[in-house]
Amino acid sequence: MNQDIIQQIREKNDIVDIVGERIPLVARGKNFFGVCPFHDDSNPSLCVSREKQIYTCFSCHATGNVFTFLMNYEHKEFPEVVKELGDRVGILVSSVSSRKTNNKYNDWYQIYDLANKYYQNNLMTSAGKSAREYLQNRGITASLIKEFELGWSLEERSPLTDLLVKKGYSYDLLNQVGLSANDYDIFHQRLMFPLHDLSGKVIGFSGRIIRDSDQNKYLNTKETDLFKKGKLLYHYHIAKDAARIKKCVLIMEGFMDIIRASSIDVKNTVATMGTALTRDHVQDIKRLSNTIILCFDGDEAGEKATLSAGELFLENGIETKVIRLPREDDPDSYILHYGKDSFLRLIEQAEYYSDYKIKALRSHVNFDSSEEKANYIHQVLEQMVKIEDPIRLEIVLKDLAKNYEIGYNTLEKSFQELKAKQGKKQEIVPRKQTTSEKEDKYTKASEAILYYMIYHPWVISETEKAHLVFPNEIYRQLENEIVFFYHQNGSFSIADFYTYLASKEELLTVLSRILMREDLAEDPSKEELFDHFQVMMQYCDRQKAKKIQKKLEEYADPLEQARIAQEIVQLRIGENKNGRRD
Ligand code: UTP
Ligand code: MN
Repeated sequence: MNQDIIQQIREKNDIVDIVGERIPLVARGKNFFGVCPFHDDSNPSLCVSREKQIYTCFSCHATGNVFTFLMNYEHKEFPEVVKELGDRVGILVSSVSSRKTNNKYNDWYQIYDLANKYYQNNLMTSAGKSAREYLQNRGITASLIKEFELGWSLEERSPLTDLLVKKGYSYDLLNQVGLSANDYDIFHQRLMFPLHDLSGKVIGFSGRIIRDSDQNKYLNTKETDLFKKGKLLYHYHIAKDAARIKKCVLIMEGFMDIIRASSIDVKNTVATMGTALTRDHVQDIKRLSNTIILCFDGDEAGEKATLSAGELFLENGIETKVIRLPREDDPDSYILHYGKDSFLRLIEQAEYYSDYKIKALRSHVNFDSSEEKANYIHQVLEQMVKIEDPIRLEIVLKDLAKNYEIGYNTLEKSFQELKAKQGKKQEIVPRKQTTSEKEDKYTKASEAILYYMIYHPWVISETEKAHLVFPNEIYRQLENEIVFFYHQNGSFSIADFYTYLASKEELLTVLSRILMREDLAEDPSKEELFDHFQVMMQYCDRQKAKKIQKKLEEYADPLEQARIAQEIVQLRIGENKNGRRD
């Protein structure tokens, strides 16, 4: 691909826009901050710089430009990302090169796509009649069938396997991808739901029986490299955009809930596959929106799921909201019974998780027992420690004081004590981590020089003239790349340098750490620069002296020893000269 075009595309796609469309960003000073999507976090450690057109996470050190962001965030290859960003700003990238992405799983994706079309087609044939009737009875319209790509698997032993083998795929591969076993189809007479990954590629299927049977209601593709049940979020690829528009996302339990919600134009929804929410889910969901609403089934299992999901999000620094449905309903049946407006009202009136939990706790308490009552109040206070919103805290404390006739001050005092106790517990960990080992002066000098090379091209020529040798291999590599990139382009753009380094992850990490240094002068004088040079030269001389000393110890010959000792003296003199500034 043409480097100039890549550069143009990068320049026209402001990284702040591209990242901001995917994660909420807040402006602070010159930079923008958000929760980093590349590691498990709830603090805004991701820094996006409009000026430098790069992002860096202070915590996990993920770093790069607009291309690498999309590659990592949307799990795409470089050519695909360039093409997309090109489309976005009206620059055409020849599709030839972007077709040639050599992904190990290309065959898998093609197989799933073929299977998906095949199942969908079956549903429309005479063999799919009973399934069509089933769907019709449940009020699933033709347009929903199309939207969710619903299909049907046939009764025969191996129609899909045969078809795919005819297309040239091996039995082995078909077994691997989970569509066949022992050369027979896995799915028979089931209503087929394709499962998509976060970016919308089909990576597996779930098939529902449509008649009473003692088989499992749903049969899923076995777990593969691409499909993990505990990671999958149904409908995520659609919810991405919808959640941005609606400024919230709903989490449900089942496929049918999602499909029903879509029928009333609520598309900002995701569902787990009936499993408890995992940390992986939380990571992916919190990228969708700042407002997350739990909308699980109304039954007791749904209540338990709500409580554990609410706590899991809190542990990740997010207070979700909660919708609780009547005991006998799930979102699907609720929408069918009560209609769109009613459901929209539930969304609007969703309460904060902690308010919900406080109520849920209350329903089990016998308030005639002073012990149970006190215990309840302690539980409420414990919950409030996790929230940290002073206004909500005051509201809750006032309510408690009023409802249970306890002095506000007593409550407040207990709360502060609890908070202090928990605060201490939490602080131990970060304190330990921040006592990082002191940086040695050679590291600092190396990083300072590299920093200045990037920002001030004149430093590149000075460094070349000085014939500096960086003490550490990775700095040496980075220096070489900077010099090469500069000579190749005649100028230096940090964001393009990121593209250039592309897959050299170790270098990228070091680079971004250096760029984030705040202890260096914006615009160094020559003197400052040469100070750093001297530190480095000292280091080189010291290394040489050490080597020679070692030789000295190895040699028994006194004459040779004397000669080497002389060499060391010379080096020391040089070192002192270097140490003096003229
Ligand atoms: P539900 O039983 O609530 O299914 O399970 P549903 O999607 O609402 O379907 P209907 O309304 O009965 O038709 C919730 C989710 O749990 C997973 C599926 O992902 C389902 O959508 N599940 C359920 C399985 O994986 N296997 C099962 O046997 C049952
Ligand atoms: Mn259900």
